[in-house]
Amino acid sequence: MPRVTFQPSGTTVECAEGTTLFDAGARAAGITIETACVGKGTCGLCRVKVLAGAEALSPYTDEEEKHLGNLYHLTKVRLSCRARVHGDVTVALAPRPGRSRPPRT
Ligand code: FES
Repeated sequence: MPRVTFQPSGTTVECAEGTTLFDAGARAAGITIETACVGKGTCGLCRVKVLAGAEALSPYTDEEEKHLGNLYHLTKVRLSCRARVHGDVTVALAPRPGRSRPPRT
């Protein structure tokens, strides 16, 4: 089973192949990921920064490009509700633009 580690808390959860980072965090580990659309890919709030294992995530989606632009290769920020897990990944909760701190874990 793939393992997802959320920083800065270091909380690690196992999840089924194909689970979104959003579901892995929100449902399995109790991690608070910001959302207004509850995983529908429309609010753009559920940002996470990929620290390791980017190759184990599903490809960058059109919804992500709409909310985050086309600079993933520089920022490594994904929408957690669009990124599906296919192997071990480490992510950090990412602050929204205009906020200085990421949400608490
Ligand atoms: S939860 Fe709204 S875009 Fe991901």
